[in-house]
Formats: sequence, C-alpha cells, structure tokens
Amino acid sequence: ATSSIPVICVDGPTASGKGTLAAVLAEKLGYHFLDSGSLYRITGLAATRAGIPLDIANEAAIVALLNTLPIHFEGSHIWLGNEDVSELIRTEEAGMNASKVSAFPAVRSALIDLQRNFRQLPGLVADGRDMGTVIFPEAALKVYLTASAACRAERRLKQLISKGIPATLDSLRADLEARDARDSSRTVAPLKPAQDALLLDNSELTVDTSVQTVLDWWQSKQPF
Ligand code: DC
Repeated sequence: ATSSIPVICVDGPTASGKGTLAAVLAEKLGYHFLDSGSLYRITGLAATRAGIPLDIANEAAIVALLNTLPIHFEGSHIWLGNEDVSELIRTEEAGMNASKVSAFPAVRSALIDLQRNFRQLPGLVADGRDMGTVIFPEAALKVYLTASAACRAERRLKQLISKGIPATLDSLRADLEARDARDSSRTVAPLKPAQDALLLDNSELTVDTSVQTVLDWWQSKQPF
C-alpha cells in the first residue's frame, strides 16, 4: 500500500525557503519531489490566459479548465502541453494569482489525487501549505518552516535581482504579508502547522544547516 511509502512534508509561508530545503532533501535522499505550489500557479496562469477573472464566482469554470490542463513534470521543469512554464509561473504576479485560486475549495479538491500520486517509492518530499494537514496527514515527518517577514523579503529581493528583475524590499514585504494573510485566513486548508509538525525557523540558518537539521530528524524517525 502507498501508506507504507515514506513522506516528508515541508510546509510554511511564502519565501520561507521551503522549495530549496525540500528539493535538496529530495536529492540527498533520492526521493521524489512535489512542488505543490506549482499546481496552483499553473491553474492561475491558465485561468488568466483564458480571460477568466480569479473570482470565486468563476470557481466552476476554473476547475473545468484545470481538469483539461496537460500538466507534466520532468525533473525541475514543469510543462503545460509542449510549453515549458517553469519560469513563467515563478513571477510575483503568478504567486499572487496562485494564492487567489488556491482559496477556492473546488480547485483544492481537484488537485488532491494528482498530489497523492506523487507518493511513489522510494519516498517523497512534498513542499506546500497543507502537505502535513490535508494531503499527507499520516506522513512520518512534518516540518513547518518559517522565517521572519524581513528575512523572507530580503531573500526574495536577492533572488529577483540575481535574475535581473527589478523589485523593492518594501513592496516585496507588503506582497508576501498579503499572501500570508490570504493563505492563513482561508476556510479550506489554511496555512498552519500540523499538530505533529516540527517547527524550524531558518531566519538565522544557512541552507546546509536547515537541511542537516531535517536529515537528523528524519534519521531519528527511522526504526534502525
Ligand atoms: O509555494 P508557492 O509560493 O509556490 O505557492 C503559491 C501559492 O499557492 C501560495 O500563495 C498558496 C498556494 N498553495 C496552497 O494553497 N497550497 C499548497 N500546498 C501550495 C501552495
């Protein structure tokens, strides 16, 4: 049964470094990797392109569209049909649009099976907001990763600047606080630590230290 396949959940707010931590863990352990946020990002992108306003009144239309999307994952690349959307979905605007569609209950339900199908041998590291609370509630290890808003805005600024995308610290911080507020206050699967999650604040930690901390936690869960 898939329930015996190990899963490590990494949940937390925007720009907390979940994606980086989860991807490195998956690589070190040789596990599969689920970037669940990319599914909401693609949904937002496709709906916007189809001219559907991201409003709850259009929930059914967005789900109908989502059910037709040819989404494929290939390593760290994400394809929509024969278009590589990996970069396109990483913009701040795509993040905000993802946050909007992710508050629609029917959009969330439509994505449940797709996410659970990532649970394959030898194991899975899943990155998101509700991995530990909703998608894989029985996961053996749940990490809730946080960092101060100031830290997260700073990191996001560096990321964007290194890609040549102009941005300011104040507007990034305002955006991520708005996104946190929406993600935490929605009624379905709000952003919050699972009851059995281990909290890790990486404001003052390097990526290596965070990775090692989680690997140690994982080791201590092993039955040998
Ligand atoms: O992790 P991310 O920044 O790519 O996620 C983009 C948005 O998608 C995020 O603001 C909220 C939503 N999301 C979600 O609701 N549940 C998840 N498991 C992952 C992302």
